[in-house]
Amino acid sequence: MPRPLVVGNWKMNGSRRSTAELLEGLLQRWQGVHKAEVAVCAPFVYLAQVGRQLADSRIRYGAQDLSPHDDGAYTGDISAAMLSDMLCSFVIVGHSERRSIHRESNELVAEKAAAALAAGLTPIICVGESLEQRESNETLQVVEAQLKAVAERIGAERYASTVVAYEPVWAIGTGKTASPEQAQEVHSFIRRQLGANGADTPILYGGSVKPDNAEELFRQADIDGGLIGGASLDAEQFTQICEAADRIAD
Ligand code: PGA
Repeated sequence: MPRPLVVGNWKMNGSRRSTAELLEGLLQRWQGVHKAEVAVCAPFVYLAQVGRQLADSRIRYGAQDLSPHDDGAYTGDISAAMLSDMLCSFVIVGHSERRSIHRESNELVAEKAAAALAAGLTPIICVGESLEQRESNETLQVVEAQLKAVAERIGAERYASTVVAYEPVWAIGTGKTASPEQAQEVHSFIRRQLGANGADTPILYGGSVKPDNAEELFRQADIDGGLIGGASLDAEQFTQICEAADRIAD
């Protein structure tokens, strides 16, 4: 079983001051050795600050997106090499907000995952269906196509060096969580899709994970932790979710 992992996705939130306070709160609460691994994905402009504050801790960090290109005339973009230069461990790719708001295709997401891997970063590859797709019973098909596009680009065996996050779009920021059974059904499907390459790939659940539902979700056989949006902006709530992940490792 993969080591439990909890990743905070701060999205486009925070300031220098609130970032410092949030990390301070987290560092105070999450000390010492734990079985669960913890990371935060910050806005690009705060990565240097996050790196300094987390330098002596076990909490890792990363970004929320990257360019598929190596370098050059791509105004406003940030490359994988820049992120690894900032000592990021992770980068989220294909978050549903980028797929919908920025119209990122499965192919572009696959390019980004490849760029991340090439620079030694661990991509957190997000997949998930919309409400409409769930209601028309297309969930597994949608997730399969999203996973397949990445496998075709990076080679299925490279899934061993990634993290996959299942985030049903209808559960993100809505307060509606997939039931543990609904989530487990998709997670076990993802595990089967990854095959032998995915035996140790953490498969995270994301979508309105809170302290009061985290443990039940994380106790499902193929849920290895969470990708946490709203609750990751509160040090106390985020720590409680990390503690739930720690307990499932026992
Ligand atoms: P949420 O976001 O926890 O606020 O629902 C999860 C995500 O979008 O990664």
